[in-house]
Amino acid sequence: MNPKRGILIAGNWKMHLGPKETAVFVADLGKRRQNAISGQTRAGLQSGKLRAMIIPPALSLPAARASVDTAWPELQIAAQNAHGEKKGAFTGELSGPMLADIGIRHVLLGHSERRQLFGETDTTVRSRLEGLLDQGFEVILCIGETLAERESGDTQAVLLRQLAGALPDSGPSGRFLDGRIVIAYEPVWAIGTGKTATPAQAQEAHAVIRADLQARFGTQAAERTLILYGGSVKPENIKEILTQPDVDGALVGGASLDAASYLALVEAGGQALGHSL
Ligand code: PGA
Repeated sequence: MNPKRGILIAGNWKMHLGPKETAVFVADLGKRRQNAISGQTRAGLQSGKLRAMIIPPALSLPAARASVDTAWPELQIAAQNAHGEKKGAFTGELSGPMLADIGIRHVLLGHSERRQLFGETDTTVRSRLEGLLDQGFEVILCIGETLAERESGDTQAVLLRQLAGALPDSGPSGRFLDGRIVIAYEPVWAIGTGKTATPAQAQEAHAVIRADLQARFGTQAAERTLILYGGSVKPENIKEILTQPDVDGALVGGASLDAASYLALVEAGGQALGHSL
């Protein structure tokens, strides 16, 4: 990580925790954080250099919003997906204005489960991303290779293809520069499998991503963009991952669903930030 960019720890709940469970979980997080989070981490959260985020299912977003406001106001909330159009005949979808209506300003896009199980492609991800950026959202764009792609030596080509397909072309003065795109590198073979990329593998992929951002959008855009690692991150391995220069945080599934574990991940973010100052 780089202290100028800061750190983001995001918990992707996937299809877990309904509205009632969400209210209970967030209240619990709020109570436990008093003891689980150090002064250093609290200062990081207050300054905005460290961001803690949860990504609940759509139906639980209003409950999350209401609970966070009382339990832990600095905790940010993102949606797991959203459509790029503001309204229309899109059964089953969720729009930016609906999210904005309940105070949600962040959206995850292109998670590998959306791509593999629900037919999303770079093209669908890109139209969502462009629409949501236009509406002022911060988006977290997920990319990553499968095991077969890694084993055949195609990791770099896959990442570059996904970035080229999903990110809008924009000149140096374009909207990319306003810092509202976060990239999450999630090797598909590491998601929910207990297999984590080694810190060196994560760094190598993140460096490829940052170099591509630099080539396409310039040094400033590349330097300010947060690149998160995701795939079986847990309190036991996050510290090592965050020591890598181009890893600016983590997107965490399973280990974000336990309050103590999630708080330990946020605390690790605060420690990493503290060490680098
Ligand atoms: P995991 O999920 O931490 O359970 O591997 C990560 C993700 O899918 O974002």
